[in-house]
Amino acid sequence: MKDIVLENKTNDLFPDISEIPERFCLKSPVMQREYLINGELRLWDGEMQEIRSPIYVTTTSGIVQPVIGSYPLLGEKESMEALEAAISAYDNGRGRWPSMSVRERIACVETFLAEMLSKKEEILTLFMWEIGKSREGALQEFDRTAEYIRNTIDAVKSLDRSSSQCVKEQGILGHIRRAPLGVVLCMGPYNYPLNETLSILIPALIMGNTAVIKPPKLGVLLHYPLLSAFLTSFPPGVVNIVYGEGKQIIPPILRTGKVDVLAFIGSSRVAEKLKSMHPKPHRLRSILGLEAKNPGIVLPDADMELAIRACVQGSLAFNGQRCTALKILFVHSKIAGKFLDGFAEQMDRLKCGMPWEEGVVITPLAEPDRTVFLNELVKDAKKHGALIMNRSGGFVQGNLFRPTLLYPVNEDMRIYREEQFGPVVPVVPFDDIEIPVRYIIQSSYGQQASIFGKDTGIMRKLTDILVNQVCRVNINCMCQRGPDIFPFAGRKDSGEGTLSVSDALRVFSIRTMVTTTDVQGNKEILAGIVRGSTSEITD
Ligand code: G3H
Repeated sequence: MKDIVLENKTNDLFPDISEIPERFCLKSPVMQREYLINGELRLWDGEMQEIRSPIYVTTTSGIVQPVIGSYPLLGEKESMEALEAAISAYDNGRGRWPSMSVRERIACVETFLAEMLSKKEEILTLFMWEIGKSREGALQEFDRTAEYIRNTIDAVKSLDRSSSQCVKEQGILGHIRRAPLGVVLCMGPYNYPLNETLSILIPALIMGNTAVIKPPKLGVLLHYPLLSAFLTSFPPGVVNIVYGEGKQIIPPILRTGKVDVLAFIGSSRVAEKLKSMHPKPHRLRSILGLEAKNPGIVLPDADMELAIRACVQGSLAFNGQRCTALKILFVHSKIAGKFLDGFAEQMDRLKCGMPWEEGVVITPLAEPDRTVFLNELVKDAKKHGALIMNRSGGFVQGNLFRPTLLYPVNEDMRIYREEQFGPVVPVVPFDDIEIPVRYIIQSSYGQQASIFGKDTGIMRKLTDILVNQVCRVNINCMCQRGPDIFPFAGRKDSGEGTLSVSDALRVFSIRTMVTTTDVQGNKEILAGIVRGSTSEITD
């Protein structure tokens, strides 16, 4: 296939291929033919999906998006085989993996972590070339994921210790423990492909479940170096990975009714479809991280410098492609002028460029049509009276969209409600606090909000309202998921279930108990029965 030539574009952005430092280059395209099912790396000889980088480079034939690899487009047959492998490894809870002691499962996860750490550089390079994430952002995501796995190991140890005790109440002795749920279907997103896949997969595995993973459509290749790590770290069938068109390979496995847990990070539209495919939806436990439209409210007494800094970072880190990004700002009209001036200035100073450049914030967008969508939102906002408030706003090169500040935004504009998931920041002026409050109440989303101000009386009242609308209210700081020991959840269309290091262990398990009456002899019998499940964790 020929390279795509970027036509009629001036190029002061995309590097000449020969100028890219060697350590940031892909040694060769990743032509992945293997897929992992039942402890075997099988070779695919069918149709492949070619992947082009979102990064354009200048070559002798023009400005092109280089081919960085390809992956197998598996079909229904292979996805059913993956499901069967996970079902048989679980074997109704009698399989080797769910029967293992927690200590043994921890050992497997530790082996996996060591393997993953040995692949760090390879994965970081793929992050840049495949989804355009800055090297710094990729490094943060990688290290955060490793830390998440370590913390999960610690959390499962303490959970295991605390569930090794018998409880006595009203003459009944009970031994309560957490048991796995069965087969988990794990589907992470493209913006945090490593972190949000492993932060659902590892807790699910460590609790004794088996899994089928479907990597996101973008950000597939960066999982390739982990294939051998999964293979060598876990018993056959515990981890199975399928690739291909979601529409083809996911419905058949959900329709069997044999998936016990759906762990999905993506859009509510897709989540709804997936859930409805299960023949007995009440049997399917869902852990969902979905879209959001987190608002920032800037009150008239806000510390201007702090509010601007936090709002710029909160709305534009990784091009605004975070589910937790600030996606609409309500700014009191008394201070709107000053806020916009400061915001526009900082926004125009953000470094736009290639992912490996130091200090870069705005990079090429991973999704091929995202710039078109963002352009439509900007055009629509302008039609309804908004202006672009910063110098470089609205300017597009290839798939790099320069950060764009829109003001004054009102409810007739699409950007008022639609999640932009890109570097466009809409600002709504308000005089009455009921304006942002009503917006949040009427919103389809309920993940987080940020409030900037100083008057504790007003902020307390506002917080009291918002805690019943969203799952985290951030005072004088941006919205974010971390630290990962904090609960991460969403109301309405923003999510289902709560994730954190310790919550994830709970959502991927169920409490089950063995009881007896506290009469002569039963205590010893109970102790004898549950001995095998008592904690062996000593450190
Ligand atoms: O896309 C959603 C991510 O979980 C956001 O995580 O807030 O730590 O960047 P973050």
